[in-house]
Amino acid sequence: PTILVIHGPNLNMLGRREPQIYGTTTLADIDAALLARGAAAGVNVVCIQSNHEGELVDAIQAHGWDALGIIINPGALTHYGLSLRDALAMLSAPIIEVHLSNVYQREAFRHTSVIAPIARGQITGLGWRGYLLALEWLLAERLPANG
Ligand code: DQA
Repeated sequence: PTILVIHGPNLNMLGRREPQIYGTTTLADIDAALLARGAAAGVNVVCIQSNHEGELVDAIQAHGWDALGIIINPGALTHYGLSLRDALAMLSAPIIEVHLSNVYQREAFRHTSVIAPIARGQITGLGWRGYLLALEWLLAERLPANG
């Protein structure tokens, strides 16, 4: 079984990018933690990052259909990425939207998510651990042995 993790634009800069907002944990650290947790549960975690919406659409088309679940931090595409939303809307597996920062405490443009209406749930403001919490939910919900 596979869980797909998608990181949108600028998340490759984590660690250096506005650390007061996004923390100092790098994307490589986050992906390593997710892979390790997945491996412990016998699940294959596939992590993808791109700064290009079309590349994320391609990755979802390639890997999304077989996934048990999707964890996505769409970055700024959260707020306007309609082709990303449409690509995700085709899938039947649950989608969890993750944000490192609490988007509702920030600028008004971050309060709207075009992804949220098709997501099973959203984790916002809990930093890098939000991804691991999302993975924990998918493991508990989607792997009968952990039920
Ligand atoms: C973000 C919040 C978005 O508004 C922003 O554009 C990002 C990161 C977060 O993880 O807090 O790139 O998704």
